[in-house]
Amino acid sequence: MPTRRHALALLAATPFAASCSAGPDAAASWRDLGAGLADPRRFALAHAILAPNPHNTQPWQVAFDGDTGMTLYCDLERRLPFTDPNDRQITLGCGAFLELYRVAASSIGQFAEITMFPEGAPTPRLDERPIAHVTFSPVANAAPDPLFRFITERRTNRNVYDVERVPDDALLLRAVSTIAAFLGGAQWTVQPERVAALRDLVWRAFDRELRTRGAQEETYRWLRFGREEMAQHRDGLGIEGPMIGLLKAAGMMDEADFIDPDSMMNQSAAKDWKKKADSSPAFMWLATPDDRPETRLLVGMAYARLNLATTALGLSIHPWSQALQEYEEMADLYAEARQLLNTDDQTAQMLVRVGYADPVPPAPRRDAAAFVRT
Ligand SMILES: Cc1cc2nc3c(=O)[nH]c(=O)nc-3n(C[C@H](O)[C@H](O)[C@H](O)COP(=O)(O)O)c2cc1C
Repeated sequence: MPTRRHALALLAATPFAASCSAGPDAAASWRDLGAGLADPRRFALAHAILAPNPHNTQPWQVAFDGDTGMTLYCDLERRLPFTDPNDRQITLGCGAFLELYRVAASSIGQFAEITMFPEGAPTPRLDERPIAHVTFSPVANAAPDPLFRFITERRTNRNVYDVERVPDDALLLRAVSTIAAFLGGAQWTVQPERVAALRDLVWRAFDRELRTRGAQEETYRWLRFGREEMAQHRDGLGIEGPMIGLLKAAGMMDEADFIDPDSMMNQSAAKDWKKKADSSPAFMWLATPDDRPETRLLVGMAYARLNLATTALGLSIHPWSQALQEYEEMADLYAEARQLLNTDDQTAQMLVRVGYADPVPPAPRRDAAAFVRT
């Protein structure tokens, strides 16, 4: 029978793992994308569901209309109301989906005309109204978006980064230049003192979240323990490793352990995430002058492009969002983040560490068909 100490050692090895290659496959949606699909909208959908999105809840639902139309809705049950009380981050995830839908369309000679919030922009939170309507029209001699081929290679990389290998400023400029049209660019720092301050901030924000019961309860709902659970749900944050499923079944990784900040499980996780924070050689962030729902969609589109562009340039990125989250328990660190990022009169939308790390496998995704409203 494994002891709690064993459980701890095993968990430390693989927090928030992506999908494993052997056994039931939670990541089948990353292969043979759109093979045999005659309808260009279904081809684009198969790519769009690979978008980055908070906690991998995959909060998208689509309905097709006529021969060329698609309406995107948010699955309101797949939001994160505690840590994302205004649906800001979930809306970013919807923007990321739209960008990948558009990029995939370009690869098959289709122009995607996107109308954001065609029935009005809900505020402060999303509601049943559509997020966007997209219409395809064929374009003669269209050149595919150059980022298309990186859709299946893109990852969120949560490994420890190579702290000695600081990305070159010129390379970071190339990455952010791909999103200049959206926002006028992103900002970054490789400056040692500022990087040190941000490492410290993201770590303390992680620790704060660990000590906030509502946040932990919310995350627990999206944790998938072991290969079987990952393959069953094909969403959420995977925790993988030898015997993880068994340990969970033996009650060694239950919700009470996850909510208790001083449980062995959390002490181990904390050590592990501190290492990740301390290994960050650089940070990037996106900020906007306003925080309207349309702006959030644009930021999500920009973030998707940034993640594709960094992939193309051989860089890894990893969002570290806790300090930007708008819940009461995080308020002081949120204020600190605004100051450190110089975003006092803006909304800081995304903060990521960037650098070089060992590759990670793809995260789970549900079947494309599961996103189509019946
Ligand atoms: C708005 C937004 C916020 C995110 N915040 C975090 C975060 O704080 N920590 C983290 O590890 N990943 C974060 N992510 C990454 C997602 O968890 C990730 O996209 C998802 O698990 C799917 O994995 P993939 O990007 O490798 O496909 C965020 C993504 C988005 C779009």
